[in-house]
Amino acid sequence: MCADWNPALYRRFEDERTRPARDLLANVPLAKATHVVDLGCGPGNSTELLVTRFPGASVVGTDNSEAMLASARERLPQCRFELSDVSSWQPTMPPDLIFANAVLQWVPDHERLLPRLLSALAPGGVLALQMPDNLDELTHQLMREVAAESPWAAVIGDASRVRERVRSSTEYYDLLARHGAQVEIWRTVYLHPLNSPAAIVDWLRATGLRPFLDPLSEELRQSFLLEYEARIARAYPAQIDGRSLLPFPRLFVVARCSP
Ligand SMILES: C[S@@+](CC[C@H](N)C(=O)[O-])C[C@H]1O[C@@H](n2cnc3c(N)ncnc32)[C@H](O)[C@@H]1O
Repeated sequence: MCADWNPALYRRFEDERTRPARDLLANVPLAKATHVVDLGCGPGNSTELLVTRFPGASVVGTDNSEAMLASARERLPQCRFELSDVSSWQPTMPPDLIFANAVLQWVPDHERLLPRLLSALAPGGVLALQMPDNLDELTHQLMREVAAESPWAAVIGDASRVRERVRSSTEYYDLLARHGAQVEIWRTVYLHPLNSPAAIVDWLRATGLRPFLDPLSEELRQSFLLEYEARIARAYPAQIDGRSLLPFPRLFVVARCSP
C-alpha cells in the first residue's frame, strides 16, 4: 500500500504536467457539455482546464487521494470533488465527457475498464485519456536497476507491479472500436528542460518513484535517492545551458460514442 500523494511536490512541475492535459482537451470533439467528470483529478489542475473549456457545465473531480482532493477543493471551491477509486467508479448521471489525464496507468485491467467507462457515457459522449508511456525510459530502467540491488531489493520487492502496463496503440484502438467508438490515438514525446538531475529525481519522486520509495526506511530512502540521482546524472548529461532534457513519451486516446 502506497503512502498518500504529495500535492505540493506534484505541483512543483505543474506547467509541464498540465501541458498534456491541455493537448488532450484540445482534441476533444465536443462543442458543449453538460456533465463532465475528471477522473484522477489530482490537485485540480486538469479540472481547472475543464471548467474553463465548458463554462456552465457541472464538472466533478474524483480521486482516491484525500490529500489531492483537499488541494483541488482549495483551488476550485465551486466544483464538486469526490473520493472514489476509478476501478469501482460509477457516474450518477451519464457524462458527456470522461477526462482521465495521467491516472489510468495506476488502474488495472484496461480490457474491462475502458469499455466500462465508454458505456457509462451519454450518447455522443467522449472518453479522453492520456497515460505516460515511459516504463522503457532510462528514468524507469534506472529505478528498477537500483531497486534490484542490495540493500534496497530486500525491502522494495517488485515495485513495478503497482503500475499497469500501457498497451500498444493498436490494442487500445481495437478495444474501443470494437464497442462502436470513433477512436483517435496518438503518441507524443515531450522533452522537458529541467534545471538539474536532482530536478528529474524530484519530478519522479511525486509519481513513478512512489512505489519504490514508500516501503523504505528514511535511511534507505536517502541512500536509494543518492544512488539513483548519480545514475540519472550520467544518463541525462547537461545541455549547453546547464539544464537536462527529460524525454517523456505519452499515449493519448480520444474515443467518441455514437450519438
Ligand atoms: C499523475 S496525477 C494526475 C493529476 C491530474 N489529472 C493531472 O492532469 O495532472 C494521478 C492522480 O490519480 C490519482 N489516482 C491514482 N490511482 C487512482 C485510482 N485507482 N482511482 C482514483 N484516483 C487515482 C492519484 O491520487 C493522483 O491524484
